[in-house]
Amino acid sequence: MLKIDIKPVTPPDVPAIVALAREIWQATYPGIITQEQIDFMLEQRYGNERLYDDLKDADKWLDQAFVGGRRSGFAFCELSKGEYKLDKLYVHPDLQRQGVGGALIAHAAARAGKLGYPAVILTVNKHNEKAIQSYHKHGFTVRESIETDIGRGFIMDDYLMEKRV
Ligand SMILES: CC(C)(COP(=O)(O)OP(=O)(O)OC[C@H]1O[C@@H](n2cnc3c(N)ncnc32)[C@H](O)[C@@H]1OP(=O)(O)O)[C@@H](O)C(=O)NCCC(=O)NCCS
Repeated sequence: MLKIDIKPVTPPDVPAIVALAREIWQATYPGIITQEQIDFMLEQRYGNERLYDDLKDADKWLDQAFVGGRRSGFAFCELSKGEYKLDKLYVHPDLQRQGVGGALIAHAAARAGKLGYPAVILTVNKHNEKAIQSYHKHGFTVRESIETDIGRGFIMDDYLMEKRV
């Protein structure tokens, strides 16, 4: 069993989280979305300034996971239309399939429960099969299929999944 420590993200962590996100996205999304969409979404979601703003937002919770002292993954949650949403969940490819994602999900779900939300929701690309399998393993089921126009001609073709807490 790995020793996994989950800690809140703080402002000095932001550049390392951005670098980790870029590395994981580049290992995950080619073949699922185009390189142009990867670059656009990274720019939209993982600019340093965007994350500094997220950290100031009372309706967002940013967690990071360390394994043996190495920053290995992160999970960002937020309130979305009154629901508690796991908005980002990423684990370094070297450490996937060893329970880090599950630990981050459990942490996020426990917080949702404490805050009185009945479920954790998330969206996942319909072609991201490994992530979908992982979400099923950790108790999520598909609620609906959604397509979202994110601008510049890009569409997110997702399942909305939920896990009751
Ligand atoms: C999805 C993700 C967050 C899961 O985290 P994790 O630490 O790998 O997950 P866990 O170890 O808790 O759960 C493992 C389960 O995930 C699935 N899974 C994860 N990696 C997998 C892989 N390479 N191949 C097949 N299934 C995989 C399996 O269901 C696995 O269970 P099993 O080993 O018993 O078959 C992680 O794999 C990841 O970061 N993937 C790339 C980024 C991504 O797609 N993020 C989600 C965006 S919505």
